[in-house]
Amino acid sequence: MTIQTKPLNPHFGVEVTGIALSDVTAENLFPQIRALFEEHSALLFRAQDVSDEKHLELAQLFGPIEDRQADERKPGEKFEIPKVSNVQEDGTTSGEMDLKTLNLKSNFLWHSDSTFLPVPSLVNILIGRVVTTEGGATELASTRAAWAMMPEDLKEKVRGRGIWHRYSHSRRKISPELAKLPMFNKWPDQHWNAIWENPVNGREALYLASHAFRIDGYDEAESEALLADLTAFCTQPAFVYSHRWSVGDVLLWDQRAVMHRGTPWPYEQPRTLSSICSSVTEADGIDRIRIPA
Ligand code: OGA
Ligand code: MN
Repeated sequence: MTIQTKPLNPHFGVEVTGIALSDVTAENLFPQIRALFEEHSALLFRAQDVSDEKHLELAQLFGPIEDRQADERKPGEKFEIPKVSNVQEDGTTSGEMDLKTLNLKSNFLWHSDSTFLPVPSLVNILIGRVVTTEGGATELASTRAAWAMMPEDLKEKVRGRGIWHRYSHSRRKISPELAKLPMFNKWPDQHWNAIWENPVNGREALYLASHAFRIDGYDEAESEALLADLTAFCTQPAFVYSHRWSVGDVLLWDQRAVMHRGTPWPYEQPRTLSSICSSVTEADGIDRIRIPA
């Protein structure tokens, strides 16, 4: 089969056909996938048969598996594939105001994953496992395309500055109670350059997230207003791809150049996506965003 691509949006993202992800290894097909990832920032593969084991293998090809629960796991307990899901242990769906649902609602704020970690993530590989009949789309916005087209006066306000990120900040916007949970308060505030230059092709992208709370040189209120302006510019419909899930879809994106968000659905319907993030390494250009303490 030959690999073919079809744009998801005129500015970024492609649907890839002609690849069965179950066949991908470091030598076979991954080099082509990695090149498409650098170039297009988001890749969609439909109707894939990817087991949890294969999902992990694919993520490992991008970089070290991110494990936010490493410190909570007892000896002998193994890594479980993180689920973005409203299904509880007893099989029922969580109520609209349950903390589990509120955490999912925090995902409805535009973000890049893990900007609050000491080592942020390079990619999120999402797989549709249980999908809804209405709503529940995942939306992606290219902060690379948006940055390239942003008016110079807005660019000037943020260029060369650092931005501070904190996990509980995005949770507080939804629920103060949620923000207090220990899992959202494990890491110290992170400080990253506002612009991430891709080391392979030199293209710059704005590195933004709902977790961002302050931009150097501005007070918290000014920062909040500027972050809102920047996010609004980047998430205009022209820079957005909205994905309606089918079971077996695999959607992955470059966290350095894309923001994403979930969208609401009728919460009595179960929705489960498997999600594995891989961490960035030096080769992915983390030096471009590092700011000396
Ligand atoms: C995520 C995420 C949004 C969604 O997996 O990191 O933000 O559509 N998902 O559930
Ligand atoms: Mn996310």
